[in-house]
Amino acid sequence: MVFQDELKARTQHVEAVLRDYLPKGGGFQKTLVSAMRYSIEAGGKRIRPILLECAYQMYGGMGQMAGPFMAAIEMIHTSSLVHDDLPALDNDSMRRGKKTTHKVYGEAMGILAGDAMMNYAYETAVRAFSLAKDDQRERVAEAFRILSEKSGVYGMLGGQSCDVEFEGRPLTEGQVEFINQHKTAALIEASLMIGAVLAGAPKDDIAILEAVGRKTGLAFQIRDDILDLTGSETELGKPIGSDVRNRKTTFVSLFGIPAGRSRVEMLSAQALDSFDSLSAEHGFLRQFLEELAVRRR
Ligand code: IPE
Ligand code: IPE
Ligand code: MG
Ligand code: MG
Ligand code: MG
Repeated sequence: MVFQDELKARTQHVEAVLRDYLPKGGGFQKTLVSAMRYSIEAGGKRIRPILLECAYQMYGGMGQMAGPFMAAIEMIHTSSLVHDDLPALDNDSMRRGKKTTHKVYGEAMGILAGDAMMNYAYETAVRAFSLAKDDQRERVAEAFRILSEKSGVYGMLGGQSCDVEFEGRPLTEGQVEFINQHKTAALIEASLMIGAVLAGAPKDDIAILEAVGRKTGLAFQIRDDILDLTGSETELGKPIGSDVRNRKTTFVSLFGIPAGRSRVEMLSAQALDSFDSLSAEHGFLRQFLEELAVRRR
């Protein structure tokens, strides 16, 4: 299949998985459910669940066991975006081509929807236990550990906390890399690792996939920082100029756009080198990783 067609098919499959696992209905808390669904249904590229499922298939994973984790990683990512856009953080009004959750539902409901989405991710991931055969349960437990650790204080949330705390400060390259590795790369690492763990991949490969995820994630964030300066709001579905407005120190604010572009290229090449040392192959996943470095949205 041509890359773009396969990407479309895989994205549609993620949408179907998300539909299955999204919270439905609600009594007096129906506004919360509606706000949670709003942020997920607004769209997004669904990169993390696609990575997760590809890694699962790469090691022969079959059946539905990856589904709850695909939904969970997208929920955690979306919760991070809902909170990232709040007035207390980046204060942005557009996301995924629509008004941000707090603009539509108010700030209190924006905070609660982000919290509820984070919690619902774990309510969802845990459902993989009932889809696993007896000898696969340990894999689900390990996947759950990775999901929780990469999202928390030593993962995404740790990075987000430094990102806001260090606004307006002249950071070193190392500090910027710490932020990017945690706020962005951690969930990309988790996606690749979880898919492989669920399929029973060898330990050595899990470690390599973590490195692939790290390089890919670092490149992904620098690309995001470049697009924040050079992208189009219509294409991105979110405002440009957010980093300057918030006085963020990024790789690009330190070294400029051309240096940013070459760093993305270098990190992406390193990620692909490591990918090629894995004991299994996946043509689409390899190309997908390559495409992320030159994405326009
Ligand atoms: C945006 O992530 C936040 C960053 C980590 C840079 P994505 O670019 O994956 O956003 P969506 O999910 O497609 O909206
Ligand atoms: C976000 O970084 C990383 C997250 C964990 C949400 P940004 O603040 O640059 O993401 P965008 O540009 O708002 O999507
Ligand atoms: Mg931010
Ligand atoms: Mg932001
Ligand atoms: Mg950004």
